[in-house]
Amino acid sequence: MESSFSSSSRSPFKGDILKGQVAVLTGGGSGIGYGIAEELGKHGASISIMGRRKHVVDSAVSILTSLGIPAIGIVGDVRKKDDVVKVLDATIEHFGKLDILVNAAAGNFLVPAEDLSPNGFRTVIDIDAVGTFTVCHEALKYLKKGGPGRDPSKGGLIINISATLHYTATWYQIHVSAAKAAVDSITRSLALEWGTDYDIRVNGIAPGPIGDTAGASKLAPEEIESSIPSDPLFKLGEKWDIAMAALYLACDAGKYINGTTLVLDGGLWLSNPRP
Ligand code: HXC
Repeated sequence: MESSFSSSSRSPFKGDILKGQVAVLTGGGSGIGYGIAEELGKHGASISIMGRRKHVVDSAVSILTSLGIPAIGIVGDVRKKDDVVKVLDATIEHFGKLDILVNAAAGNFLVPAEDLSPNGFRTVIDIDAVGTFTVCHEALKYLKKGGPGRDPSKGGLIINISATLHYTATWYQIHVSAAKAAVDSITRSLALEWGTDYDIRVNGIAPGPIGDTAGASKLAPEEIESSIPSDPLFKLGEKWDIAMAALYLACDAGKYINGTTLVLDGGLWLSNPRP
């Protein structure tokens, strides 16, 4: 895998804004998850990546390490609680604490609702929604104020990667739309409960079409090349755009943001294009 960014000089943020912080990213070996991992690392964070494919995780860790970013990778599936526990325990063992959790693991495919089996529907719900909840739930003891290695009065941050599919309705995406609606609801509920009780901020990011990702190539290969670009609001985003939003949420500039999901799509969802 190639590095997503040619240089850290593109970032408007100071290079040490996350100095000393530790981040876990599910789905952090590729795509948007990796893009966020790299920028968090370039701004001072140590990185722990969870992913299902060993070669992808290993490759990501190798690139991060070559950039001088302290990084580990653990193979696991967010649908398996034991895997989640393993990743979090390894992170604490290696880096001593956890400050930032990014839930970027996701599954997707295009299918008309009438052709989607209940198990296909459940599979995506399990990865995106139940997986997000499971990782949040298991990470709570590390993220809450007074958790291991933490300031007694300061909790950590959760960022859930969502989508805009469910703001209206999206063709052939009933499973992901339902899953991401659940993710947004999880974001709000945890922001309320854990923000109040544990000083943990919980926010989401809803990307639009982002270039050089599995989502773009799986979901809209033809549209991206043909019909959607004719929409006046269509702009293909970069992983960098999403990573900058994650940095904003993670640094002190975002300290008053809790329970919201930032949409980063150039306004595209407003036009609800038909494939
Ligand atoms: C119809 C399908 C299908 C397809 C799988 N299924 N692919 N149904 N069309 N193309 C059904 C299967 O038939 C099965 O149901 C059930 O789903 C489980 O399939 P498995 O292959 O056993 O599951 P698994 O191996 O766990 O794979 C999970 C996956 C896969 C989600 C199906 O695509 C995957 O692993 N994806 C991970 C990577 C990924 O998709 N990344 C992109 C995320 S992009 P039956 O009934 O037959 O048992 C993203 C962006 C969202 O999330 C927003 C975009 C704007």
